[in-house]
Amino acid sequence: MPDASTYAVAESLLAFWAEAGVDAVLLDEPLDRIEAGKILPPRPAPSPLAVATPPPRPGSVVAAAPDVSAAVAQAQALAAAAHDMEALAAAIAGFEGCGLRFEGASTKAVCWRGLQGAPVMVIGEGPGAEEDQQGLPFVGRAGKLLDKMLAAAGLSDRVLITNTVFWRPPGNRTPAPHEQAICQPFLERAIQLTAPKMLLLAGGASAKSLLKKDEGILSLRGRWFEWRSSDGAIELPAMPTLHPAFLLRQPGAKKRAWSDLLTFTERLDRPERPA
Ligand code: URA
Repeated sequence: MPDASTYAVAESLLAFWAEAGVDAVLLDEPLDRIEAGKILPPRPAPSPLAVATPPPRPGSVVAAAPDVSAAVAQAQALAAAAHDMEALAAAIAGFEGCGLRFEGASTKAVCWRGLQGAPVMVIGEGPGAEEDQQGLPFVGRAGKLLDKMLAAAGLSDRVLITNTVFWRPPGNRTPAPHEQAICQPFLERAIQLTAPKMLLLAGGASAKSLLKKDEGILSLRGRWFEWRSSDGAIELPAMPTLHPAFLLRQPGAKKRAWSDLLTFTERLDRPERPA
């Protein structure tokens, strides 16, 4: 029976591979899946677009969404009707179209913290246990490291911090693309209302979702991309960087994150050329 430290090492290694973009595990010997399939009982394939059906809640604003496109449409309508960040946070809190809300998160939505109207929005992956408890993003160990990094880069009071999803994924798993898609109208509205100059995308799940990229974070980090809202009305410079939770596991990678932050801040503070 492996001891706890073996599990911790395995978990850290798997997390490292996931951050680096490894999404398939291959055996040394090929496996004939056609032959293997003959002896396995057939399993019904789950629909990738299925959304958990939430139990009815008294006084809720929105009923359960039957599928992703309906949930996205609901989120779009609610987001568009929110004319300030307070109204947007209330709309998110009342939204029941994202299955994450019913998969172990406390019912608290975790929206954002920081400066309203900030020139920088930091977008992480999704709330963890501590964030779920406090109802604020990046307040656990990773958040404390993020705060230190932002302070060192002179960004502390110039950021609004949020996530791609507003409820904690169970077991801190990576949010699924359909969960991010359902939350995206709220995130886009938050970006529109905040009107930042730039986006800092913390970790692969954030970078891939916002930039629609398949590459791993180790290849995306430190590069400039153009983020575009789904209606094409907003375009902003966006830089992916390493997630602070990854840096806690791989402290040797901190210098790369630091170099990203310096590049990011240099552009933010670069005087604009007169037209
Ligand atoms: N990790 C994230 O991506 N977001 C948080 O809010 C906390 C940890």
